Amino acid sequence: MRHFLSLKDFTKTELLEMITLAQKIKAQTKMKHFVPYMEHQTLGMIFEKSSTRTRVSFETGIYQLGGVGLFLSSNDIQLGRGEPMKDTARVISRMLDMVMIRTFEQSKLEEFAKYSKVPVINGLTDSYHPVQIMTDYLTLIECGIETPIVAYVGDGNNITHSWLMLSAILGFELRVATPNKYACDPEIVQEALELAKKTNAKISFSSDPKVAVEGANVVTTDTWVSMGQEDEKEERLEAFKGYIVDEELMSLAQEDALFLHCLPAYRDYEVSEETFEKHADVIFLEAENRLHAQKGIMVWLDQHRNS
Ligand code: CP
Ligand code: NVA
Repeated sequence: MRHFLSLKDFTKTELLEMITLAQKIKAQTKMKHFVPYMEHQTLGMIFEKSSTRTRVSFETGIYQLGGVGLFLSSNDIQLGRGEPMKDTARVISRMLDMVMIRTFEQSKLEEFAKYSKVPVINGLTDSYHPVQIMTDYLTLIECGIETPIVAYVGDGNNITHSWLMLSAILGFELRVATPNKYACDPEIVQEALELAKKTNAKISFSSDPKVAVEGANVVTTDTWVSMGQEDEKEERLEAFKGYIVDEELMSLAQEDALFLHCLPAYRDYEVSEETFEKHADVIFLEAENRLHAQKGIMVWLDQHRNS
């Protein structure tokens, strides 16, 4: 049985199989052909943090696959009152067929997975957001980007860490620009650079957004204040001045460069209103693709239950 906790647990071939499945199921869905790949299965969805896209896409996705989603807010289940993760895992994985968790520390997710009888999917932790970056890759393919040169500008966070892993495993170029104080986790960087040796992925770091964006064909960013960092807001807004993705910065990228944003977006902080609206079609295609990419991931995990 395989869990989807971090991209680093998968080979390039496996990640591309999930993307191919997503494309196939998306095409079927667009023709209103709902194949019951996961008939009568129940997906439990534990949320310890807020969500719009992750909740709606997983719940709709499992329904369209012939199953049902169970929304479990940590405020409403005993987990929120101190029942251990490992007990929660041992109880609910006897009743459910798959579990998605959005939580804080990656170690909490790993603990759940260790005790779970069913596949567990990372729906965002402080360290990674792998389903988002698989979605972003699906979107790049759909937009005809065959050789991505991705520039990530902003906070070295869960989104950046997942880009690092995807780039390292698939072997495409990634340039990261963050303020020194908010750089990526050095351990994760080390792991990614180790993986990148096998694929020759070109990964570079800088504190200058211009250096990252120059000649890129994909530019992306994320909020400067992630969930759980609300107390650091003032300090962060100060530190990220100069890291906004706006038309001036975008003018350094390739002419038809794409701009991606995982959303929610904070206009005129990490991205200007003008740049956001100019790229809105692709940003909202990216949002829709959460539904399709995650169906590919769920079906793949379901098909590899006994491997
Ligand atoms: N991008 C993303 O995961 O959005 P939500 O926080 O709304 O789920
Ligand atoms: N980095 C953001 C992503 C939100 C989807 C956060 O963790 O809040």
